Amino acid sequence: MQFDEILKSFQARAEAALDSRLPADSTAPGRLHAAMRYATLGGGKRVRPVLVYATGTALGACLEHLDGSAAAVEFIHAYSLIHDDLPAMDNDDLRRGRPTCHRAYDEATAILAGDSLQALAFEVLASGAQDHLPAARRLLMMEALATASGSFGMAGGQAIDLAAVGRQLSLGELENMHLHKTGALIRASVRLGFLASGGTDPRHADRLDRYARCVGLAFQVHDDILDVEGSTEVIGKPRGSDQHRDKPTYPNLLGMDEAKATAQRLCDEALEALSIMDHRADFLRRLAEFIVQRDR
Ligand code: IPE
Ligand code: IPE
Ligand code: MG
Ligand code: MG
Ligand code: MG
Repeated sequence: MQFDEILKSFQARAEAALDSRLPADSTAPGRLHAAMRYATLGGGKRVRPVLVYATGTALGACLEHLDGSAAAVEFIHAYSLIHDDLPAMDNDDLRRGRPTCHRAYDEATAILAGDSLQALAFEVLASGAQDHLPAARRLLMMEALATASGSFGMAGGQAIDLAAVGRQLSLGELENMHLHKTGALIRASVRLGFLASGGTDPRHADRLDRYARCVGLAFQVHDDILDVEGSTEVIGKPRGSDQHRDKPTYPNLLGMDEAKATAQRLCDEALEALSIMDHRADFLRRLAEFIVQRDR
């Protein structure tokens, strides 16, 4: 199968994994459940679940055993986007081509939908549907996702982002911010794929983590580039949001050409990290390229 076909099939699988684990709108409290479904389903690229599937299958896992991890990391991501768009944070009205959650519902419901999606992520990892994995491994998975989500991961990165508004950061500070706010969950996706596949080889773990670190940073560098060069219709969120709010970004600090060269260098480094992996990692390789070439 071609890269595009595999990507589509992983995305469709992720959609189904999310849908089946989200409470129905008809279950009380209906408005909260509707907001959770609205913010999660329909429209995302599903890069984090795709990384779980790609890593797991590169190590020989079956897809059924990866669904829980794929859904869990995307629930955290969906929650992070709801909160990222709130007036107290980026104050954006458009997400995935539709009104942001707090615009479609209300701020209080959006905050609670984020809270509930975060809790749901850990419920999914702990649940009986993950019984094919030993309890000790599920604990490692929960620890990895918790660390990547909290003050030493995504939420910490968001705090750095908010504190940096209007300030000029050094390249090191900017890299640190991106590695946390976006890199941490991408790294956790690969780690979850490794753990859920039953992987034990520390050399694989190390190489996959190097790959994920590079891809995670490249992902946010490219997101910064799209904020300048993308079109609102295609990216589905307001172009120029970073500039409008005076956010430190790679294109701002380095200029557009150097920002693009940085993303490409990180992609090359990610490919180099996978050199010990066999052909089953080819999709992961193409995914690194996709991440720095995507148009949304
Ligand atoms: C957007 O993430 C926010 C960042 C961390 C850069 P994505 O670009 O993965 O958003 P969706 O899920 O595809 O909408
Ligand atoms: C978002 O970064 C990072 C997280 C949601 C954790 P951005 O603020 O750049 O993401 P977009 O551009 O709004 O998607
Ligand atoms: Mg933000
Ligand atoms: Mg934002
Ligand atoms: Mg952005």
